[in-house]
Amino acid sequence: MANTIAPVGSTLGILGGGQLGRMMALAAREMGIHTVIWDPAAESPAAEAADAAIRAPYDDPGAMEQFLSRVDRITYEFENVDYDTARTLSRSKPVHPSPDLLYVSQHRLREKDRARRAGLETTPYAAVSTWEDLELAMREVGLPAILKTVRGGYDGKGQAMVTNRDEAVTGFRELQHASHGDTLIYESRADFTAEVSVVVARDEMGQTVTYPVTENHHRHGILDYSVVPARVPAEVARRAQQGGVQLAEDLGLVGLMALELFVMADGRVLFNEIAPRPHNSGHWTLDGAWPTQFAQHVRAVMGWRVAEPRLLSATAMVNLLGDLFLDGLESLPHLMDLEGVQLHWYGKREMRSGRKVGHVNVLADDAAEALQGAREVKRRLGGRWDDGA
Ligand SMILES: Nc1ncnc2c1ncn2[C@@H]1O[C@H](COP(=O)(O)OP(=O)(O)OP(=O)(O)O)[C@@H](O)[C@H]1O
Ligand SMILES: [Mg+2]
Repeated sequence: MANTIAPVGSTLGILGGGQLGRMMALAAREMGIHTVIWDPAAESPAAEAADAAIRAPYDDPGAMEQFLSRVDRITYEFENVDYDTARTLSRSKPVHPSPDLLYVSQHRLREKDRARRAGLETTPYAAVSTWEDLELAMREVGLPAILKTVRGGYDGKGQAMVTNRDEAVTGFRELQHASHGDTLIYESRADFTAEVSVVVARDEMGQTVTYPVTENHHRHGILDYSVVPARVPAEVARRAQQGGVQLAEDLGLVGLMALELFVMADGRVLFNEIAPRPHNSGHWTLDGAWPTQFAQHVRAVMGWRVAEPRLLSATAMVNLLGDLFLDGLESLPHLMDLEGVQLHWYGKREMRSGRKVGHVNVLADDAAEALQGAREVKRRLGGRWDDGA
């Protein structure tokens, strides 16, 4: 597809109707770009913010025709969108990030292989399809480890901790069953001192930019809170950003993606995975940076230039899960007298345990103060605060 600049007033088609699609649609609207959401689900937080929505399975030929006739450019808001659909769409309209990049990101072995090729370091890993492979992996990659399905995992799902041979056997059996005999990845468990991520954007002209490195804290496998600037040495942050640029260039990224990384005690930065789209750990940019990750993504996907991000404020981002609101939403307005607090609500109707329903950004003078604010947000909502660091 030839490089063209989509004019203001063009339409961006978005595959997926979750909160990321919603925030993309809101950013697009501010810049005069219309959006059409395509999602099979009845409930679509993105549809509420978009100009139009198509509700149909991704393999519905009529829906595809309708979608294509209404959009000028196409993107997706989650990486488990069907690769064949993305490839078919790309024959008619530009799809960014490219279906090839989507293909890499859908498979943990492919993305780690690719990251290594691009010069990034990873934790040792091996592909495991048979009992013999498992034996070999235990010997060569070692223990402790994590077994993961190569496809479809998110929020820590499709993973088994392996600290001994029994757990390896059980994990292998369960995950192979869950993934219908698909290959698994056996990864050495990194004894990291911090988890960080870097959001990188690249335009069709080849300019690549990175956001300040974000420090991430997970709880039960789900991102709990993030803080910027990450409390890591400047050299570590520089290495993380450099890794982002290398991988974006190697993959020919157009659009925006995030790299999840482990920081080791000796300062090494190990690549974990990519998300070829705006990322939960980049939600702080909605208030703490210019342009936001969503605006940046839309710019790149429409064929516009990306902008060198500016850090506007130290920011902590607290994820709001449905667990906090099983009895209603009354607690939310009580956050508003806290300093520097901005609520982002996704408009999901059902408050389910473990479901991301919104987030709060806390702006402050530095990371420590922002974290104090984040802790207070959690307290007022009745949530638990884990000092991961
Ligand atoms: N090799 C590893 N060593 C140590 N910890 C790991 C390793 N792999 C994963 N983890 C931990 O488990 C978390 C989730 O793993 P990963 O990011 O691979 O899966 P995911 O299901 O895609 O998660 P998410 O959707 O939250 O990004 C990581 O953020 C990290 O805390
Ligand atoms: Mg992850």
